[in-house]
Amino acid sequence: VNAHFTPKLLAGKRVLITAGATLEMIDPVRGITNLSSGKMGYAIAQAASDMGADVTLVSGITALNPIANAANIKAESAQAMYEAVMSNIMNQDVFIAVAAVADYRPVTQQHEKIKKSTSSLTLELTPNKDILADVASLPNAPFCVGFAAETENLLEYAETKRKAKKLPLIVANLAKEALGSEENSVTLIDKNGAHPIQRASKTEVAKLLLQHIAHML
Ligand code: CTP
Ligand code: CA
Repeated sequence: VNAHFTPKLLAGKRVLITAGATLEMIDPVRGITNLSSGKMGYAIAQAASDMGADVTLVSGITALNPIANAANIKAESAQAMYEAVMSNIMNQDVFIAVAAVADYRPVTQQHEKIKKSTSSLTLELTPNKDILADVASLPNAPFCVGFAAETENLLEYAETKRKAKKLPLIVANLAKEALGSEENSVTLIDKNGAHPIQRASKTEVAKLLLQHIAHML
């Protein structure tokens, strides 16, 4: 579908999206990360822009090119992503958290490369702050959408997350359906229940998700 013919369902709306994986450095040459290409988040950013939204895209690690007509912000660690989101959240209408944020980071980041030895190595990790949960608890929170990437008990875990983070909408996503693929199949879960989206290109899934959001706004 030509962008020209996309209905401008999000005209005048400000939409902030996180995408890609964060990277938590262990030493100058190594880090801990999640598997995420960024494709789903970028597809949402592109589709939101095509629907007339004013888009801000905060990206972790991804090999994708910036989105035209969007504010593209790089934030590689979970802490950097947290700061980037919080300093851009004012006056946003919608926040869609698609990024695979590392739940933990090393307690200390070594200044020099750790040399190998024959003994075992233990890394001490400390939890990162939850960007989505903190945005959803702001006094004037935007409409918040989460992605629940699961490997089992998909709908149950996703609904538990939706309630725990106080989200109007969550996208339930089986990791094996999405990771590394051009396509995805997801289930949207809101207070009215589950709305499955058939397997389709990430671009198509992005449009259907944004239509659902536009109707809920
Ligand atoms: N999320 C976030 N900041 C974090 C962790 C997660 O913004 N520090 C967001 C993700 O972008 C996603 C949603 O929260 O939209 C759910 O992430 P997920 O990893 O599936 O859930 P968690 O709450 O981290 O729980 P767990 O990893 O234990 O399943
Ligand atoms: Ca997590």
